Amino acid sequence: MATFADVRTTLGQLVQGRDIPRMKITHGGDAFSWDTAEELRKAVAVIFGTTYQLIDPALVGNGRADETYLVQVLMGPIEDQDIPRMPFRGPFASADQIKVIRDWINDGARDDGVT
Ligand code: HEM
Repeated sequence: MATFADVRTTLGQLVQGRDIPRMKITHGGDAFSWDTAEELRKAVAVIFGTTYQLIDPALVGNGRADETYLVQVLMGPIEDQDIPRMPFRGPFASADQIKVIRDWINDGARDDGVT
């Protein structure tokens, strides 16, 4: 079981030391954001005109977290779509860090305190 606070901490660790405003611009702007659970549920990366929703709602709460772009880009490159592994050039997420995100999505991607 993972809370949104765990997820935010994990994503924060993954981008620690990065230039966050530049990272947002690289991913299309302010919609690339995870300050709140709602923002993360809606977050998109817009790359060369293509919009990637980090967490497709159809993949939430049903054991399909590994199919989300968020988990896929953290686990490795998506070669058939030319998307490199994230965070770009690493350091990359550990298995434990990926598990936090996977569990939260599989548990319903909820706000903390909502059951
Ligand atoms: C669908 C999701 C995502 C897509 C399609 C995507 C795509 C990209 C692309 C194309 C780049 C530019 C690489 C280059 O310069 O050649 C990039 C950079 C980067 N990405 Fe992602 N990304 C995604 C999610 C993420 C996530 C979840 C993280 C962090 C946890 C992340 C962290 C970064 C960082 C730190 C950079 C370097 C940014 C900079 O300073 O310009 N990305 N991403």
